[in-house]
Amino acid sequence: MILKDKKIVLGITGSIAAYRVFELIKLLKNAGACVFPVLTKNAQYFVTPLSIEIACENKVLCDMFESPMAHIELARSADLFAIVPATANYINKYAYGIADDLITTASLAFRGPVVIAPAMNWRMYESHQVQRSIENLKNIGVHFVEPDEGSLACGEEGKGRLASPSKIFETIVSALTEKDLKGERIIVTAGPTRHYIDSIRFITNKSSGKMGYALALAAARRGAEVTLISGPTNITPPYVGKFTQVETTQEMLKSVIDESPSASILIMAAAPLDFEPSPYFDTKVDKTLLKSISLKLCPDILKETAKIKNRPFTVGFAAEAGLNIERAKQKFKEKSLHMIVLNDVTGKEGGMGADNNQIIMLYKRKNKFHMEKTNFLSKEEIANIILSKIKELRVER
Ligand SMILES: Cc1cc2nc3c(=O)[nH]c(=O)nc-3n(C[C@H](O)[C@H](O)[C@H](O)COP(=O)(O)O)c2cc1C
Repeated sequence: MILKDKKIVLGITGSIAAYRVFELIKLLKNAGACVFPVLTKNAQYFVTPLSIEIACENKVLCDMFESPMAHIELARSADLFAIVPATANYINKYAYGIADDLITTASLAFRGPVVIAPAMNWRMYESHQVQRSIENLKNIGVHFVEPDEGSLACGEEGKGRLASPSKIFETIVSALTEKDLKGERIIVTAGPTRHYIDSIRFITNKSSGKMGYALALAAARRGAEVTLISGPTNITPPYVGKFTQVETTQEMLKSVIDESPSASILIMAAAPLDFEPSPYFDTKVDKTLLKSISLKLCPDILKETAKIKNRPFTVGFAAEAGLNIERAKQKFKEKSLHMIVLNDVTGKEGGMGADNNQIIMLYKRKNKFHMEKTNFLSKEEIANIILSKIKELRVER
């Protein structure tokens, strides 16, 4: 519940894209936020106050003079203002401090983070007036969610489509998250790797990528510049600075080596294959001819990265059957790690593919091993615990 009890004022203005706000309301509510909707007069041509009120489960406000102190009350109590979709009219009015209805007046009185997701015809979006207003508002710290390019309601093509609700949601979460990892450049690896037996058959493992994706997303939300290097997964990549898709263990190793010199932290949450089929057949092999598959060892990414000069602070993951501390200590030493995260992949509740996890963090302080075990928590919560521990250990170094 990343937005638990956060009070979000949602301003909806008169754009054809207003119907897409329902998806955003659902995301915000599922994340635990309380959403207080305000509709402009013109927004009511596109969505009804009743349907918005039902979706938000909070009274919808439309008229400034109906509840006379609402504009100040909203500004005083909210954690964040989100204007979705935002018309050219709203953006220009807000940029110049015009306060002629409830949402513009409340926006002007508000002192916290503001997220604006514009939606309009591309000619309007690219106009000098709108661009200048956006620039002015960015300069005072307003967060903009850039519209997408594509076909517009007017039948034209161009930049002006409302950004996806998930991208707007992410901007809202990020605007509410303390940037305590600002200045860090973090590489996260995630997912399995895949090695081919022949041109169409391959071997892989059960890793879902969820833990690595959760780490990358949490780090990005906390202000780090994140590169996520991922093997093949079935989950949507999170909004991070750079996403690199790889397939084999060798490709993952190459990406890690390429990115490492400029990184401050490397988190190896991936489960790269330890073995690959050998030989590889570059055509589909007749099944009657393939009696058995021989394997050879893949490169060990963590061991290889230990050779890098000025290696970043490196965190390895030990996906073991059972929480084998001694083996984890051995891996810690062999691979010269700064921390190792141990998780039991055989557990029913957590591990590969699950949404929850329980981990043990193993690290050295004054040359002695220390261990910290978490409860079963969501991978998002586990990610934040790991990042906070990394931050703490880096300060000590
Ligand atoms: C069918 C229709 C669709 C519109 N869509 C948009 C839009 O997507 N973006 C925009 O900036 N204005 C759009 N407008 C124009 C706004 O509704 C108009 O500028 C209005 O004054 C905005 O009022 P508000 O900002 O107070 O909600 C549209 C108008 C019509 C008639």
